[in-house]
Amino acid sequence: MKRIAVFASGNGSNFQAIVNAVKREELNTSITLLVSDKPGAFVIDRAMKEEIPTFVFAAKNYQEKANYEREILKHLKANEVDLIVLAGYMRLIGETLLQAYSGKIINIHPSLLPAFPGKDAIGQALKAKVSQTGITIHYVDAGMDTGPIIAQEAITLSDKETRESIQEKIQALEHRLYPSVIQHLLHKKEVFHQ
Ligand code: GAR
Repeated sequence: MKRIAVFASGNGSNFQAIVNAVKREELNTSITLLVSDKPGAFVIDRAMKEEIPTFVFAAKNYQEKANYEREILKHLKANEVDLIVLAGYMRLIGETLLQAYSGKIINIHPSLLPAFPGKDAIGQALKAKVSQTGITIHYVDAGMDTGPIIAQEAITLSDKETRESIQEKIQALEHRLYPSVIQHLLHKKEVFHQ
């Protein structure tokens, strides 16, 4: 069975959705590691409750990205991780991980990329008064939300929308689409994009 690691910085509702999909046997994988760059993030509590091993670090304790990414890599190798799943991991992936896991790192972003990359995509969509936004799942490259797109789904916005109402719709979509895309990627024949 293919093994995944989830990287997350915050609440971890997507992490939980992936865990739940595994429990329901809709997603056939083993989540062997949670990586978090935010000691104290709620996602770490979730992982502990699910008895999933964690590697938690604070970037400020390392001189540069390559140093903590080498640590992460050790944990990924020790846990024989096949695919890295970013789920609200608010940090750019560096060369160390990109080279070691070429074509095997995916991300979910709360907008229809290339619209609204980077931080606060929902706030950016609100401000732009767009009538549609959505979510994107894509391969990760060295850029900010720039890798090849795997899947997108749109939602329509009314003029009464608030940050909370958009977030609720976006997250419901994310929780449904991400596990099914992971399942597809792990089980298709030509296993990964290169
Ligand atoms: C998700 O909505 C995800 O799309 C977004 O962070 C949220 C994490 O929520 N990611 C980004 O904005 C990446 N640029 P969660 O911690 O509840 O899963």
